[in-house]
Amino acid sequence: MDINNVKKELGTDWSGYQATLVSALCNSNEFVSKINNYLIENAGKQLRPVLSLLSATVCGEPNNTSHCCAAVSEMIHTATLLHDDVADDGNLRRGVPTVKAVFGQAASILAGDYWLAQALDLLTQCGEDVLSCFTNAVKELSVGELIQMEKAELLDTCKEDYYSIISKKTASLFIAAMKSGAISVGANPERLKAVEKYAYELGVAFQIRDDIFDYTPSMDTGKIAGADIKERKITLPLLCAMEKSSPEEARQVREKIALIENSLVKGGKVSDAERAIIDEVNLFVEKYDGIGQSQNILGEHGKMAVKALSPLPPSWAKERLVALAEYVGTREK
Ligand code: IPE
Ligand code: IPE
Ligand code: MG
Ligand code: MG
Ligand code: MG
Repeated sequence: MDINNVKKELGTDWSGYQATLVSALCNSNEFVSKINNYLIENAGKQLRPVLSLLSATVCGEPNNTSHCCAAVSEMIHTATLLHDDVADDGNLRRGVPTVKAVFGQAASILAGDYWLAQALDLLTQCGEDVLSCFTNAVKELSVGELIQMEKAELLDTCKEDYYSIISKKTASLFIAAMKSGAISVGANPERLKAVEKYAYELGVAFQIRDDIFDYTPSMDTGKIAGADIKERKITLPLLCAMEKSSPEEARQVREKIALIENSLVKGGKVSDAERAIIDEVNLFVEKYDGIGQSQNILGEHGKMAVKALSPLPPSWAKERLVALAEYVGTREK
């Protein structure tokens, strides 16, 4: 599936979303505009606004509030990426240097605050129920990122922790995007529940695919692979490999990762000894097919997402949501 075709099918709702986004970000300051233009010119997939508008379409007739919900979901997403690239020392995104790399750390944090503040401004027009979808998502997102940091320190991440982290840091915003879209058209509780469950499963699958990218340097994803283990983040491919290996081998791998000093502390530098450990971890993941196992697990989440749609009436938008579940699991970017 080509996500750009769905944007075309969304027609005036897609252009309504785009106009809302651009006008909400407008600022007379030259530096602010320069960063905003850099972000808009190097836009990402804009999956969250697509989901928000499809959710509104599947439950009713999209309106101006639906366009705001779509814009807010992309603005909050962008704000979190601006902050995430500082937290993760991310230098490449969407195939271009990040705002952090081009304009510096402080600018990336402050631009993130600006996008978040402008999203809040849009939310003042959307009613309390929509507002609470997004306040909940931002809270969950930040808690998820903090738990991830804590776990990188302790190195005791288990599968349960991993799912808790990705539900909070990624699925929460998928839920807010879709639930708010459904609320904007007055969806009934049954439909709200269906889109919420779909969004949760899709968000989990989406982050697992992203974590697979990090172990797949051969893929041209527009980001640099190998960043997670460098920062001691234990994600699903490694957890699956550990489960399949002997407990002793798994213990040894954890002990080796403990020797990696979080590269952030050292301004992104990685020593030769640390590089050797990272290579070993990659071989370990390969030996026990951590990627294949993770791909199977994300496929199950995709199936659960599709199943969650069953209470919704048939429509072209529902068909696209079904196709998106497949897309999320096989996407290359
Ligand atoms: C990246 O999200 C952050 C994650 C939740 C994995 P996307 O892959 O949706 O980022 P863009 O906006 O398309 O670049
Ligand atoms: C998702 O995690 C980031 C947020 C939810 C903000 P990652 O840190 O893996 O995202 P990428 O890989 O940098 O896009
Ligand atoms: Mg991160
Ligand atoms: Mg990151
Ligand atoms: Mg990632």
